[in-house]
Amino acid sequence: MRRVNVAIAGFGNIGREVARLLLERRARYAQVYDADVRLVGVCGSRAGRAGGDGLEPGDLADLEEGLSGQVFVAALAPDVLIEAGPTDFATGGPALGYLADQLERGGDAVAVSKGALVHSGVHLRTLAKANGARLRISGATAAALPTIDLIETGLRGARVLALEGVLNATTNYLLNAMMERGIGFEEALHEAQAGGFAEADPSRDIEGWDTACKLLILANFGLDAGLAIGDVAVEGIGAVTREAVAAWREQGLVPRLVGRLEYTGDTPRASVSVRTYPLDDPFAHIPGKTKALRVETDCMGEILTMGGGREPRATASAALKDLELLLSEPR
Ligand SMILES: NC(=O)c1ccc[n+]([C@@H]2O[C@H](COP(=O)([O-])OP(=O)(O)OC[C@H]3O[C@@H](n4cnc5c(N)ncnc54)[C@H](OP(=O)(O)O)[C@@H]3O)[C@@H](O)[C@H]2O)c1
Repeated sequence: MRRVNVAIAGFGNIGREVARLLLERRARYAQVYDADVRLVGVCGSRAGRAGGDGLEPGDLADLEEGLSGQVFVAALAPDVLIEAGPTDFATGGPALGYLADQLERGGDAVAVSKGALVHSGVHLRTLAKANGARLRISGATAAALPTIDLIETGLRGARVLALEGVLNATTNYLLNAMMERGIGFEEALHEAQAGGFAEADPSRDIEGWDTACKLLILANFGLDAGLAIGDVAVEGIGAVTREAVAAWREQGLVPRLVGRLEYTGDTPRASVSVRTYPLDDPFAHIPGKTKALRVETDCMGEILTMGGGREPRATASAALKDLELLLSEPR
């Protein structure tokens, strides 16, 4: 059985759930992939834990101060690095250093945060290619919803003509609350924050930037679109009024915050805006905290995927799907 050493950089909600599930699934990895998967290290911003022979669940409660950073992770030399740190679109954040080091060493990486992929996606892909390494990104592209897999694998052989996605669950929840219960934007937001469905600072979600980043990553990694974030025309949902909602309801229309990529000839154009859908369109029926992606193709027709699980388990499972994809195709 081959040994596969895994490390996790970023040990918050998602990173901890990844560790818990990974340790729970070791027997499956051995049985299905003939792989002896060991968790050889984890770290947050200031503290971490290393275990050459593999950490056990009981080792993860107490982290040791000072065990963190690129030097710490490089010393672990993991076969696979799962990165689940903060998202920073402006600089790429700590993820950029961790991912770049790992790929440069020829190790495989699974990215969960979006910042580095938006800021330096081309650089990271170039590093992966140059060093024979693989970079998987399911956790950063709407997580449990199969988006990048659908484009890369499910639709292989077809040409994608357009993508349209409800890629942010928080805004979908807010628009549904406004439509279904006639409440205003502020009230819906307050309610979502109280219920833990919206972050304390929800600006990235409601201003459309989270959707824009997911669309950009899908377009660049899945379709080689070569877009920069400045190329995406972005609108959020902050300006949606009760009056607009009442008028849409009267007309039998349902609003969604949608990221859309379409082509004029070979030139891609990306945007994020509120669009409305008639009741006979599946996009009118995307429940609460769910996401959806519709892809128009030249020869496979129109494909729709919709769904999503509870966090942090759903995103952690998406990261571990990427790990399984790496295990299933040993280098
Ligand atoms: N939560 C979700 O539902 C969800 C879904 C999809 C994607 N994501 C993305 O997944 C990522 C993680 O989300 P989360 O909810 O787990 O966030 P979180 O709970 O805030 O965890 C972030 C972790 O990153 C660590 N960190 C910060 N700087 C670091 C550094 N320089 N080196 C190593 N670790 C560092 C933090 O360390 P400390 O513990 O020391 O502060 C913390 O452990 C985010 O980028 C988020 O956008 C989240």
